[in-house]
Amino acid sequence: MKIRVLTGAGISAESGIPTFRGKDGLWNKYDPAELATPEAFEQNPKLVWEWYDWRRQLIAKAQPNEGHRIVAKMEELFSDFWLITQNVDGLHQRAGSKKVIELHGNIWKVRCLNCGAEYYEYTTPLPEIPPKCRECSGLLRPGVVWFGESLPVDALSKAYELSQNADVFIVVGTSALVYPAAELPLIAKREGAKLIEVNPEETPITPYADYSLREKAGEGLRKVTEML
Ligand code: NAD
Ligand code: APR
Ligand code: ZN
Repeated sequence: MKIRVLTGAGISAESGIPTFRGKDGLWNKYDPAELATPEAFEQNPKLVWEWYDWRRQLIAKAQPNEGHRIVAKMEELFSDFWLITQNVDGLHQRAGSKKVIELHGNIWKVRCLNCGAEYYEYTTPLPEIPPKCRECSGLLRPGVVWFGESLPVDALSKAYELSQNADVFIVVGTSALVYPAAELPLIAKREGAKLIEVNPEETPITPYADYSLREKAGEGLRKVTEML
């Protein structure tokens, strides 16, 4: 059975990582235009890096939760399994997931604007802000996808291909408002997959779901494993 899982910030909520939208969402407190766009970074790399260093410290202290662990277990149980995530926190990998497509990059990755070097930088907190490239001392940027940027081509095309041939497509913890990630469940459904959603709130995906569980990720995924 071909199983695909698409996750959003909601699966990390039970690890204490704030989501972006909804009542305590980050975008209620911060203006994404000031922190999560290429223009914002060009304008004020120090401010953007201070925000990402704060998020890195939060994530470093967080632990994967039951939802992450159940997704990692699914990879062991089903030979044709892939996880597609919008999250940049790396908690899926810390829970044991290996077959992971990161649509929006990874908060532990950095990329040099001068020489193009891209590598993982786990030092937390950062020794200097903004951090400098270890190869050429050029300015580094976070290795995540910002608003207005296009997604990594390989990751996106692999995600489309997997969504086009799925038997079961499970969507967990995403508001399904941001494209192109939000399109993947609809592609899967159109191509004949069973669509299952786990989210305490309704989303634009809910009307298309064969089963929509109004549950938090941990509890909801426990129920989904009984359905598979
Ligand atoms: P957007 O609406 O600008 O779309 C993002 C990119 O996806 C576009 O630039 C385009 O290349 C592609 N795209 C959009 N719609 C598409 C479609 N229907 N089919 C194929 N490709 C499509 O997205 P956005 O809200 O400006 O944000 C850009 C991306 O950055 C999003 O995926 C968002 O989730 C991500 N983001 C990440 C962070 C972070 O901290 N990691 C913060 C903000 C935004
Ligand atoms: N379990 C499951 N879902 C939850 C939980 C939980 N414990 N708590 C909240 N949710 C749901 C909310 O109901 C909401 O639908 O998680 C969803 C979080 O939505 P967003 O905050 O919009 O996060 P996401 O969908 O991942 O955002 C997409 O936008 O800002 C960009 O790049 C960022 O990848 C992100 C993208
Ligand atoms: Zn460099």
